[in-house]
Amino acid sequence: MTRSTLILAYFAVVISFSCQAQIQELEHGHTHYKNKSDIPQHKLIFPSAAPDRIIIHLTENPTTSFAVNWRTDQRIDTAYIEVAKETHGPDLRLQKNRRRLLANTQFFENENTADKEPLVKAAYHSALIDALEPGTTYVYRVGDGSDSDGNWSEWFQIETPGSDENTPFSFIYFGDAQNDVKSMWSRVIRKSYQMMPEVDFMLHAGDLINHSESDREWGEWFYAGSYIHATVPSIMTPGNHEYNYENGTLSQLWKPQFNLPRNGPLNAIKETCYTLDYGNMKLISFDAKYFKDYPKYRTAQLNWLDSVLASNTKKWITLFMHYPIYSTAKGRDNKALREGVKPLTDKYGVDLVLQGHDHTYARGYASNNAEGKTVVQDAGAVYAVSVSGPKMYESQDQAWMVRRAEYTQLFQIISVTKDTIKYESYTPLGSLYDAFDLIKDDQGNKTLTNRVPENFPMRLKKDFVEE
Ligand SMILES: [Fe+2]
Repeated sequence: MTRSTLILAYFAVVISFSCQAQIQELEHGHTHYKNKSDIPQHKLIFPSAAPDRIIIHLTENPTTSFAVNWRTDQRIDTAYIEVAKETHGPDLRLQKNRRRLLANTQFFENENTADKEPLVKAAYHSALIDALEPGTTYVYRVGDGSDSDGNWSEWFQIETPGSDENTPFSFIYFGDAQNDVKSMWSRVIRKSYQMMPEVDFMLHAGDLINHSESDREWGEWFYAGSYIHATVPSIMTPGNHEYNYENGTLSQLWKPQFNLPRNGPLNAIKETCYTLDYGNMKLISFDAKYFKDYPKYRTAQLNWLDSVLASNTKKWITLFMHYPIYSTAKGRDNKALREGVKPLTDKYGVDLVLQGHDHTYARGYASNNAEGKTVVQDAGAVYAVSVSGPKMYESQDQAWMVRRAEYTQLFQIISVTKDTIKYESYTPLGSLYDAFDLIKDDQGNKTLTNRVPENFPMRLKKDFVEE
């Protein structure tokens, strides 16, 4: 064989291998990582055959069911969830102890060219597990149905709430995570879970990420929460950053990757505007971004809110939405939202309104008028604006505010019993920055006790300028 024949033969083999790889890629319908290692956070962007982005959600019947979503590459076109009661040993794996359900699977492709992200071909899977017993610890795993563990997740624990609606529970409320989510928000959600590992669910008040269609940013959000997302149910309301800033529609990733109640008023806001009951609390997600951007549908969302509140039988009511009814800074006022929603919060005695968007913290009530009182009778709804990510704005002192902060990442642990809501806002150090107790008697009379820590001065952004 001559030298030139050898070279030709070598290239023929190389070309043949590369063609085979391309054919395999097409056949498998997924994106290989080859040549993608220069893409920042590429491991967070591309799916594989093993489940990732696993998240559980509250359903409309949280005592007997929960919802799960996860992602794989498109080789997995049939996916399953297995559920068992938690056991002292590995007996949960015995065939007789576990139940297997087929998931709903949809293929989804997303190419976020605005951020120079590659085409991502994924399969999103979802399942709703019902017929569970209240007050019971279960385990579940998701995967491809194979006998080996390779394409299954680990078993995650989840506990259903007790059937007595007055069973105490707690949840953690986060304002905007939004920016540098892997780098800077991960420690906030982890600290919150360290402080309250028995938390029953987590509530996100919008702007979980910055660019609605960014697979990298969503990957960071799932990475930051890691197994917490898979073991503590979440509910979330969208912010302006979950809406595509070019065409004004909800992020294409919202519905594939989440599985939220579909009981809202309009098709466009199913899974963004919804309600559910947990224990003795009614929780309502109001899609404030949609309300702002689509004036002709405002009445529909307000009428729905009115009907949900009018038929409420729960003792406590929490409304959560992204834009605040009372902003923390001049020039960020949401007048139409306030004029639409506040009459309903007043009329029906909403207890908590949890919000984000302003990248500062403030908490207070409409009747406050800067009186500095510790104990207040019938203050009306308590309004909170919070931020959990690192993007920080400035705010102005306003009469409604009891406590204010700038340049502070916070999470709120909210503990609910039959008669009391205990609200505590913490920094990533686990230091208490703000707190109050709300006591409601059986006639609906409310007493609010402010518990602002005296030894923690107000934090202002101007005090944190780089030298
Ligand atoms: Fe926002």
